[in-house]
Amino acid sequence: KEKKLWGGRFQDRVTDAVERFSESVSFDKKLYRQDINGSRAHASMLAEQGLMSASDKDSILHGLDEIERQIEGGEFVWRADREDVHMNIEAALTDLIGEPAKKLHTARSRNDQVVTDVRLWCRDAIDRIVSCIRQLQVALIKLAIKNEGLIVPGYTHLQRAQPVLLQHLLLSYVEQLERDSGRLVDCKDRLNFSPLGACALAGTGLPINRFMTSDALGFRAPLRNSIDAVSDRDFLLELLSSNSITAIHLSRLGEEWVLWASEEFGFLTPSDSVSTGSSIMPQKKNPDPMELVRGKSARVIGDLTTLLVLCKGLPQAYNRDLQEDKEPLFDSVETIIGMLEVSAEFAENVTFNRERIQRSLPAGHLDATTLADYLVKKGIPFRTSHDIVGRAVAMCVSKNCQLSELPLDQLTSISPVFDESVYEFLGFENSVKKFCSYGSTGPDCVADQLSFWCKQLNIG
Ligand code: ARG
Repeated sequence: KEKKLWGGRFQDRVTDAVERFSESVSFDKKLYRQDINGSRAHASMLAEQGLMSASDKDSILHGLDEIERQIEGGEFVWRADREDVHMNIEAALTDLIGEPAKKLHTARSRNDQVVTDVRLWCRDAIDRIVSCIRQLQVALIKLAIKNEGLIVPGYTHLQRAQPVLLQHLLLSYVEQLERDSGRLVDCKDRLNFSPLGACALAGTGLPINRFMTSDALGFRAPLRNSIDAVSDRDFLLELLSSNSITAIHLSRLGEEWVLWASEEFGFLTPSDSVSTGSSIMPQKKNPDPMELVRGKSARVIGDLTTLLVLCKGLPQAYNRDLQEDKEPLFDSVETIIGMLEVSAEFAENVTFNRERIQRSLPAGHLDATTLADYLVKKGIPFRTSHDIVGRAVAMCVSKNCQLSELPLDQLTSISPVFDESVYEFLGFENSVKKFCSYGSTGPDCVADQLSFWCKQLNIG
């Protein structure tokens, strides 16, 4: 067994159990590219500052290129006894180029190195998530375009409430996703500062230039305080919180679509390509992808919870506990990306059943509130008109009919204010047309929303 990179003061080697328990290379090797880029920037800075020769720097850079090539070609041997991605790469570099490699860790600790890698990884991860969010938004907008004019029942408390345009409902998810991507962009902006050069926690007495490495790695600036730099994972809490919120949005979409795909609703049918069957019931066609979207939101929330609990009891500066930040991070990011991709595919492969929806629309007195507005327009105070319409609804319930089917004399028996014009307000189609407030479900308002989004996302 080789001596550890930190082995100078040690007489005995760690037990196999401890080695197995504490290694992180099995999962943090995902950070290899960030780690190598960090080392490139660091070595160049050290040379610039006179802390290593130009030729040492060159051999380090060549060695790092070779290691990157080996990793990407699948030839690199990751060793658990070398603990983590950082020491695997550094030790491999020493195997490869010898002496010069020993200068690379000058004025650097794994504490600033690891958090630099993670910040760099998060920047890319955020870009990936944001682009998946875009794709889902586009899929929802295209689905809206396909279903122009389709009225669906709007629900509150899962009880029939008011008629809305399906486009309006679909665009409500687009809005939520837009805030999700805004949160990610904010998060990226806030995390884009360099910890490199904070070293273990106190900085260094060597004449390094943290601004140079910060620039080289595309950070906005070095973090001001070296203790803060190695301590905090608040940027991960932010990213995982944002993912959790997105996951909840997707879970609600999943819940709605699973419900709508049921025999009882029958509002939508997913194509075979996004459905699965049952191993026992031959007739079954299940909307599994959206059920799993709902289900996987639990993992994303769990990942955030893990990280919150991980951080809560730590004294300032680096603690080894922080090694446990990576798996929840990776899991949260991969899971949310999968959820977004599958939701977009589902949206591309779903059909809304116009006829079935239309047949169901007369139930539930969706036009009652529009009728109350009609009375308000005739000068009746809203509380009174609410009561009048309530009585008209009660009449419908007892006669088992719709508001639009009540003859005028029955309506005038409740209030003399009703006249023939009332029938222009009744029925789900008339009712939807009456909405005109900004952001409402009226056809003009929804067309405005749709054209906003088409322009915003370049959908022709
Ligand atoms: N693998 C470690 C982590 O992920 C790297 C930092 C270890 N630092 C240390 N002083 N042991 O956090």
